[in-house]
Amino acid sequence: MLGHLLHRRGVDSVIIENRSEEYVVERVRAGVLEQHVVDLMIETGVGARLQREGLRHDGVWLAFGGIRRRIDFAELTGKAITVYGQNEVVRDLIDARRATSRPLHFEVDHVSVGGLDSNPVVRYRKDGKEHELTCDVIAGCDGFHGICRPSFPPGVLTAFDRVYPFAWLGILAHAAPSSEELVYSLTDRGFALFSMRSPKVTRLYLQCAPDEDIEAWPDERIWSELETRLSTRDGWKPNTGPIFQKGITPMRSFVAEPMQFGRLFLAGDSAHIVPPTGAKGLNLAVADVRVLADAISRFYDSGSETALDAYSHTCLQRIWKAQRFSWWMTSMLHLGVPHNGFDYRRQIAELDYITSSRAGMTTLAENYVGLPIDTPR
Ligand code: PHB
Repeated sequence: MLGHLLHRRGVDSVIIENRSEEYVVERVRAGVLEQHVVDLMIETGVGARLQREGLRHDGVWLAFGGIRRRIDFAELTGKAITVYGQNEVVRDLIDARRATSRPLHFEVDHVSVGGLDSNPVVRYRKDGKEHELTCDVIAGCDGFHGICRPSFPPGVLTAFDRVYPFAWLGILAHAAPSSEELVYSLTDRGFALFSMRSPKVTRLYLQCAPDEDIEAWPDERIWSELETRLSTRDGWKPNTGPIFQKGITPMRSFVAEPMQFGRLFLAGDSAHIVPPTGAKGLNLAVADVRVLADAISRFYDSGSETALDAYSHTCLQRIWKAQRFSWWMTSMLHLGVPHNGFDYRRQIAELDYITSSRAGMTTLAENYVGLPIDTPR
């Protein structure tokens, strides 16, 4: 997305990716886009398939104590969310990149960055050949395990984190979604989430232990647990069907500050991780690169580094609000480990309050659809 935004402003870039193209377009990841991401894709000419295939959701359901209550995003905020796989976004952006003939290299390794405070350079190996790239700016969009964050000089970064005592077991099934909107559920057996990827594919998650052995979860056990945790007294439950993908998602909150050293800028998971409850990961990454693209193009327009130097502060204001929201959704919706009866009853009371007070519903809705992005003028 950063390469795409820079191209539209006439700025050259080289994109290098460690994985293969097949891996990045096939690997199923997040699936919920905030309105600003949808608007950006449409406005910048990469939204045609999203407009055809994306599923617009005007609300979300919260289930607890056998009932489910709806939060109406459209009525409360005038905005919506769109279900469209992150890997589909990546596919559309690769197609757009190819159409520009600008460089995009997959299966690159031995990547290192240097000269960060004066003359940035990126070194990498592709097809056994060493390359050296001198540039004005390096964007570290290389994820939590990438090389850019560890390339900051010692003492520059402060890391803040929280690890949760649970994880998600996620599946994809060939089953028509039985609800048009997502259902987040808390029961005395733990959390479950009903989501989807298309009119024929349901995506479901169960709270499990962080070291859960996926082998201990044959399909029948997964369906039986999902049915127990998701069925509500009004007769609603997920449709079942053949499971074609299973995996465990760890849960972690993490922020590294600042997101800049010299001409190296971190964006997305390389600087911050959220637990998936609330679906903020991809949306935060897109918000970062919007601010960064803006700052880089100002640098080329005026020679001024003011916007580049404000990047970290600008992004972190909103990142911490999304961190708070993701932590809050996670804490409200998961069974504590160890289980504590007081906490469980308090969580049920909170869900009851949040889904019945207009103020409560509004606070969830405006965070879920995405807070405003501050790009300084
Ligand atoms: C998903 O569909 O993968 C999904 C939806 C909502 C979340 C997390 C994941 O909060």
